[in-house]
Order: sequence, then structure tokens, then C-alpha cells
Amino acid sequence: MQSGTAPPLHGTTRVPGDKSISHRALILGALAVGETKITNLLTADDVMRTLAAVEALGARVTRHPGGVFAVDGVGVGGMAEPADVLDLGNSGTGSRLLIGALATQPVTAQLTGDASLRSRPMARVTVPLEEMGARFVARAGGRLPLTVIGADEPAPMTYRLPVASAQVKSAILLAGLNAPGRTTVIEAKRTRDHTELMLRHFGAEVRVEDSNEGVRAVTVTGEPELRARPVFVPGDPSSAAFLAVAALIVPGSEVTIEGVGVNPLRAGLYDTLAEMGADISFANRREEAGEPVCDMVVRAGELSGIDVPAERAPSMIDEFPILAVAAAYARGRTRMNGLAELRVKESDRLAAIADGLAACGAKVAVEGDDLIVEGTGRAPAGGALVRARDDHRIAMAFLVLGLAAKVPVAIDDGRMIATSFPEFAGLMNALGAKIGDAAA
Ligand code: S3P
Repeated sequence: MQSGTAPPLHGTTRVPGDKSISHRALILGALAVGETKITNLLTADDVMRTLAAVEALGARVTRHPGGVFAVDGVGVGGMAEPADVLDLGNSGTGSRLLIGALATQPVTAQLTGDASLRSRPMARVTVPLEEMGARFVARAGGRLPLTVIGADEPAPMTYRLPVASAQVKSAILLAGLNAPGRTTVIEAKRTRDHTELMLRHFGAEVRVEDSNEGVRAVTVTGEPELRARPVFVPGDPSSAAFLAVAALIVPGSEVTIEGVGVNPLRAGLYDTLAEMGADISFANRREEAGEPVCDMVVRAGELSGIDVPAERAPSMIDEFPILAVAAAYARGRTRMNGLAELRVKESDRLAAIADGLAACGAKVAVEGDDLIVEGTGRAPAGGALVRARDDHRIAMAFLVLGLAAKVPVAIDDGRMIATSFPEFAGLMNALGAKIGDAAA
């Protein structure tokens, strides 16, 4: 795929439903009693894998007109043993959350995924879940394919997260649902709280205690009866990020993205872009099903390099590829601190960003776990064939870079974009971009 110099981007659009919230809606819908109606569920491959998995675990899912999905749940503790291996494709979230939910169910299940998912660390969830009574048989390093043997007598636990990970936190909280007593996860850096918010929405007792030092303890009381509740999935801020940065860097652009989720624990990119001088306004702030939502208006303009503190990384962990693109267009140095977790995403994103930017003629360096981009305030040269490393966000970030580069940018393979944002090229082109397979 490739992208070439675009005329100013103009128009009003929406992005598909939030991926994190979509996975959680299906899993909690499956664990609830009754029928959960989900509006605006993301229908990209990652989420469809979770949908197929919850069906294999006994939930019934039906698709209604208007894109509404209904999940008829089995209740906490009611998951059936799947008859075959659960294939979670590319999805770290689907696999880790399901491993958590299965850890305290009296069933045995096998999970696998694509080459990327099979290379990602799972010990971060299996080690604490063993303390709750589950057993696992996995490849070296706790990698998939992996067998979960759910606990016969689950025990609640208190666990301090060694890495800032919402997936690990969520896996333990979901396991805690079927354990008697209270399960607590303590996080030193706050991570996205969609699981906590949705557990409450479904009737679970969830206590959140914040300390002055920024430490947060989340406690779920086990063995609740979760009751089916309607879920409205807001537009994904991580998908909107690609449109927003495109509108910032293509001169003369003005784009409105309606209905975007702006949960503060997901909004780090937007805070960072504002510090860089971006012209972004957040209109019609409102709440939809417990999540804050707004209409984002983005206008092109000059950006300045800044320091992004390590504490902010969890609130924008998926946005560094596209922030690095914005930084390549900005004037001055942008230093992104504390990015160790980027090495274990769908690809080694630290290396993928650095290689791709360098190939496009930008000045970039990796120092320890920090990424440094030296922007000149002018468009980078482009003209490269960038290796997307089978990573959807690397693919989309470099296609955006090509929209204002001097020479078009190509990526080796854009097929993985379908895991999170199949509509990406269509939505961008409707705003005036030129992204496609043919010569741009
Ligand atoms: C997610 C958490 C993050 C993020 C991922 C989605 C979630 O992963 O990168 O895309 O839905 O909980 P980690 O928890 O591993 O940081």
C-alpha cells in the first residue's frame, strides 16, 4: 500500500468503536445473566476473534440490524469447556482477558494466535493467575499456544502489577469474579480503567482507592451476579489518532471526528499534541454509557517538539507510532521517555518506528527506552518502502506520514490494518487523502 501528497483534508467523520471496550463488552456480556445489547461494537478481526471465543465458551451472540450485537451470557462461573482451540488471531487483549476469565472456571481450554501473538509474553498473566489456583502449560516464556486448566477452588488475591498493563490488571479482575472474597490489583501507574467501569455497569462491587503518590488499588468482590446491561461503544481514540495527526500535518486541513472516547486514561496523545501547539478542540463533551465522549475538531498547523514524560506513557501506549510521525513534522526535538513496553506490542514498535522514520529521512535515535525525534519543522523526505512488521499501527502511522511527505511512502503490507481499523483507507480517502494499492 502507499500514500502520496494529499490536498487539504476536509470533512466530518466517525471512527469505529473502541477496541478495548468492545472486547470487554463481549466478555462481560458472556459472564452476565440475560441479554447484553452492544451498539457500535468494533467489527475488526481482533474483536471478532473474541466474539468467536465467547461463543465457543457457551455464550450466544446474535447480530441485529443497525450493527447491534446481542450477547446471551452464561453467568459468572458458567463458561463451558470449548470443544476446540481458541484462536485469538493478533489480539493481545482478547487472549489475556480470556485467560484471566478462564483461570477460575473449572474448564480446560487451549489458546493460540498468529505469529505475532505467539511471540508475546503471557507469563505476566499466568504467573499471578497461578496464585489464584489456575495451572498453565505453555511454550517457553509462557508463550502461546497455551493450555489453561481453570482452578477447582479459586482463591482471591492481592497483586501489585510489576508492569503498567491494563491487560494484566483486567485478567486478574476477571479471574477475581469467580473467586470467593476480594481480589485487589495495585498499580503504581494508572492504566485504562474500562474493565473497572464496565464491571460496575454490570452490577459488580468495585472499589477504587487512590493514594497521594498516584498508586491506585482496584478491588472487585467475587461471585457477584452480573446482570446484562446495554453497552454503547464510543469511537476509538486510538483510531481517531491517525485521522487527527493526518489533519495536523497536511497543510490547510480541517477535520471533525464525532463521538470519540476521551477517557482521561486514554487521552495522553491529545494532551501531548496540545502541548506541541496543535489546534484541536473538544466540542460537545458528554457521557455515553459511563465513558466520556466528544466531537474533535482538528486544524492543520505548526507543531513544536516537546518532552513526553514516562508517567504519561500508559495513557497513550498505542499512540507512539503516530506521535513519532507528528514529531517528525514538528520543529525541534521530541523526546518520548519510558517506552520499554513498546518492545512487546504487536511488533517491537520502538525498532519499527526508528527504522521507518530513518528510512523516510527523519533524524531519529533510540536511547535506552527513550525515543528521540529531531524535527525540522518541514515535511520529511518520504520516498521509502517501510516495513510494517505485520503491525497495524506501524502500517497506518507511515501511511499518514506519506500524506505530506515530499515523495510518496509505501509500506510492504497493509493487511494487518484489518485487525483494528478496516475502514482506515476508506475514511481517510473520503476526507481527501490518497491511500491505496495503486501508485499514488
Ligand atoms: C489494552 C491495553 C494495552 C494496549 C492494548 C489494549 C487493553 O496493552 O496496548 O492495545 O485493552 O487493555 P497493555 O495492557 O499490555 O499495556
